[in-house]
Amino acid sequence: MPELTENTQLGGQSLHRIVFPEEDVQRRVRELGEEITRTYQASDRLLLLGLLKGSFIFMADLVRAVHLPLHVDFLVASSYGSGTVSSGDVRLLYDPEASLKGRAVVLVEDIVDTGTTLDRLLPRLEARGPTSLEICTLLHKRASSPTQVPRWVGFEAPDEFLVGYGLDYAEDFRHLPYIASL
Ligand code: IMP
Ligand code: MG
Repeated sequence: MPELTENTQLGGQSLHRIVFPEEDVQRRVRELGEEITRTYQASDRLLLLGLLKGSFIFMADLVRAVHLPLHVDFLVASSYGSGTVSSGDVRLLYDPEASLKGRAVVLVEDIVDTGTTLDRLLPRLEARGPTSLEICTLLHKRASSPTQVPRWVGFEAPDEFLVGYGLDYAEDFRHLPYIASL
């Protein structure tokens, strides 16, 4: 297990332990890329739609592990403010220019916790006429609502607040190459 060496204290919060080391994350992202590659054909007009900001590092690694022609776009939704508990209020702050019509869309999430974000977003995306709409999330908390079932899950996450590899606590810790708990 790698040691917590740098940036372990930010904004008055300390990291507790590394939950998913960098090598495990990298290996799993390559596997997800291979699974997505096997699922689609070059003719599917694949669009990977990342939910910002949390998915930005995952997206960057995932698109390079998918060996098919694809397009990339992002959505910005906000449900947390600066707390560690979901507020249930999902605001869409940026909506992509990219048309979803006739495209095989994979919505890329950092973590599915209560599922509220997906519950609010998916109907809006479905209404735009993609040929298919699947969810790929790096992390999934077991307590998640079963209404939205991700097609691809990187890791089942413990019920702790996780940071790193894109995930933040009040904007801190996103840049860590591993995933740790607070
Ligand atoms: P949900 O709407 O409860 O499923 O929450 C989803 C969003 O909340 C994710 O996209 C994250 O941005 C954020 N989130 C949920 N759990 C965590 C966590 O443990 N660490 C950091 N962000 C989290
Ligand atoms: Mg967040």
